[in-house]
Amino acid sequence: MSKILVTGAAGFIGSQLAHVLWQQGEQVILLDDFSYGLEDNLIFDDHDFRAEILREDVCDTPMLNALCEKERFDYIYHIAAITPLPDCQISPGRAITVNVAGTVNVLEAARRFGVKNVIFASTSAVYENCDKFPTKEDDAIPPSLVYSSGKFAAEQFCRSFVEVYGINVTVLRFANVYGPHIDCLRTQPPVAGYLIRELFYDRQPVLHSTGEQRRDFVYVDDLIDLALKVRDNQGYDCVNVSTNMTYSINELYKTIAKIMDKEHLQPVYVDSSNYWKRYPGLYEGAYPISAQILDNEVNKYTLCDNAHAAEKFGWQPQISFEEGLRRTVDFSVDVLKKHDAAL
Ligand SMILES: NC(=O)c1ccc[n+]([C@@H]2O[C@H](COP(=O)([O-])OP(=O)(O)OC[C@H]3O[C@@H](n4cnc5c(N)ncnc54)[C@H](O)[C@@H]3O)[C@@H](O)[C@H]2O)c1
Repeated sequence: MSKILVTGAAGFIGSQLAHVLWQQGEQVILLDDFSYGLEDNLIFDDHDFRAEILREDVCDTPMLNALCEKERFDYIYHIAAITPLPDCQISPGRAITVNVAGTVNVLEAARRFGVKNVIFASTSAVYENCDKFPTKEDDAIPPSLVYSSGKFAAEQFCRSFVEVYGINVTVLRFANVYGPHIDCLRTQPPVAGYLIRELFYDRQPVLHSTGEQRRDFVYVDDLIDLALKVRDNQGYDCVNVSTNMTYSINELYKTIAKIMDKEHLQPVYVDSSNYWKRYPGLYEGAYPISAQILDNEVNKYTLCDNAHAAEKFGWQPQISFEEGLRRTVDFSVDVLKKHDAAL
């Protein structure tokens, strides 16, 4: 049995990962500051983590050092982050404090207290300025937005700690993740959560641009399977977690609408700039945000090469898009039924 810390454990991915580790008999300690996490994510049929999760901030250095000194973790899955892109863009200082300095805190505690491997949740958003597809890990060039730049910087610190101290760190660059526990309640949910919520409330979903933008979607159980496989990797590695396949947002809508029997609720298409107009702060001040950058973000294409994960770790995604979305819808509809007022 290993002792494992999962940060961001009340979020979508962290909660599912912590539960799988617990089911495998590992001693798991969950940590989250609940800035975005949900209590509901901690309740599973076979276990309720609500009483045991540590309600702490990864930016609290003395807390993290004391925890790692006391517990002597074998592994840390560092999943916590401020994830909504607009929130990062609106509060860049806080986003960098959590997503970069918070990661450095984890790395420093890991080096001081002998953690065998830190597995860091990065993102395919670091490829936002790349034009090679499918994108390989070495194709990354510096991104532009705050969220992606923060993750890119945090990756460099992961590499730095491996080079300078010889610790082991594995960076996983997740493509667009979907599955049970995806947030469908927050102001700006991930697109699959948003579509399920709008169709649940019998509203026509609003899609930005043509809906023909294509993304690489990966199911959460497949991601967890790889996250478990990499944990004894030595030194530094960076691995795409993707299906190497794309679906358009329109295809995502059609599949979800069919599963929910809501195909009569056709999407409404609006200009890509509408996505960001809900965040007026970005347009205020002496230098408003670049329309071109925002347009690129809404219309971007993602396709991540997963050959490295396959060749080195023997990993292949197993869950089809339709099956994964069916499971996501089943779970999310139950969550929405628990909320009496329409969101
Ligand atoms: N979901 C995706 O499609 C996707 C894609 C690429 C990368 N990622 C990365 O995967 C990780 C998990 O994403 P998610 O979709 O589960 O997001 P999420 O927002 O559901 O979970 C993140 C969790 O981190 C917690 N958190 C934030 N700041 C914290 C702090 N200072 N201290 C402690 N906890 C804090 C939040 O409360 C939340 O529960 C993130 O690092 C994200 O950047 C996600």
